[in-house]
Amino acid sequence: MADRDHPAPITPATKLCAVLGAPVAHSGSPAMHNAAFAAEGIDARYFAFHVEPEAFETAVRGLQALGAIGVNVTVPHKAAALAVADVAGKRAQEAGAANVLTFAADGRILADNTDGIGFIRSLDEAGIALRGRRVLMVGAGGAARAVALACLEEDAAALWVANRTPGKAEALIAQLTAVLGDAAAGRLRALSLDPGEMTEALPQADVLINATSLGLKPGDPSPLSVEQCRLAQDAVAIDLIYAREPTVFLKAAAAAGLTTIDGSGMLVWQAALSWQNWFNRTGPVAVMRAALRNWLEREPS
Ligand code: ATR
Repeated sequence: MADRDHPAPITPATKLCAVLGAPVAHSGSPAMHNAAFAAEGIDARYFAFHVEPEAFETAVRGLQALGAIGVNVTVPHKAAALAVADVAGKRAQEAGAANVLTFAADGRILADNTDGIGFIRSLDEAGIALRGRRVLMVGAGGAARAVALACLEEDAAALWVANRTPGKAEALIAQLTAVLGDAAAGRLRALSLDPGEMTEALPQADVLINATSLGLKPGDPSPLSVEQCRLAQDAVAIDLIYAREPTVFLKAAAAAGLTTIDGSGMLVWQAALSWQNWFNRTGPVAVMRAALRNWLEREPS
């Protein structure tokens, strides 16, 4: 077995995997997957490729022509990844987006989405179950939909979506209702970030999720203030963003006394579950987690 610091040499047999995104320079995925390949003795390498939207399909088909195993796909390509696939699994269809593509031996491109299930697995390992809980999610963009679906499928009692642009929260709720039908009925509500609406909603929430992009850039404000987080006393605060330091949202939530969970567990689990498509088994979670932690410590912030 190769170890992480001395991987097997690259030979003509070495296979290729990658993440495609824009931007992708700060992705932790190469660190996680390459450490896992080395630990498991898999003769493959994983790269991060910055690909602009107009080049996405060409890049995917080029990687397929090169005999790559598959790719992960991140912002802004997840909907395009679903569109380029010949076959989409149920999770990708429901999410309207794919974060995993697999190049099958018969020439077809297969799409999966492991973001929602990755989110749930990360909560499982933190001992948090969503069943019967009331979830308030801030944000209604690309990251929000797979997580929203996962919350509903885990039998959350309510899912309220609050967004700066309320029309996008309403559109997300319409999409969720179209996918889940009666199973979603009565559990969904669209909100704005209007302080009055938040003051009414927050005391009713058991789980707060930041699905906005706030926290990615230095100097971003928190989507919810400390005072607002305090209204949701005893709630669990979850950020989908992963970073070395706690995000502005998790800092506000911790200052309000809430339990906090960052996005690193979700990132690790979506990666480990990508392996089910590529290698018919879950990737080594502990190896991936350690590699992500090391990478975050080295990565300039
Ligand atoms: P992602 O794929 O990461 O979710 P996105 O689809 O661009 O990215 O969505 C970003 C989310 O963050 C949206 O919900 C966005 O709100 P709008 O729909 O109103 O644009 C939210 N967001 C970004 N900047 C924000 C800000 N300054 N205040 C509040 N919400 C913000």
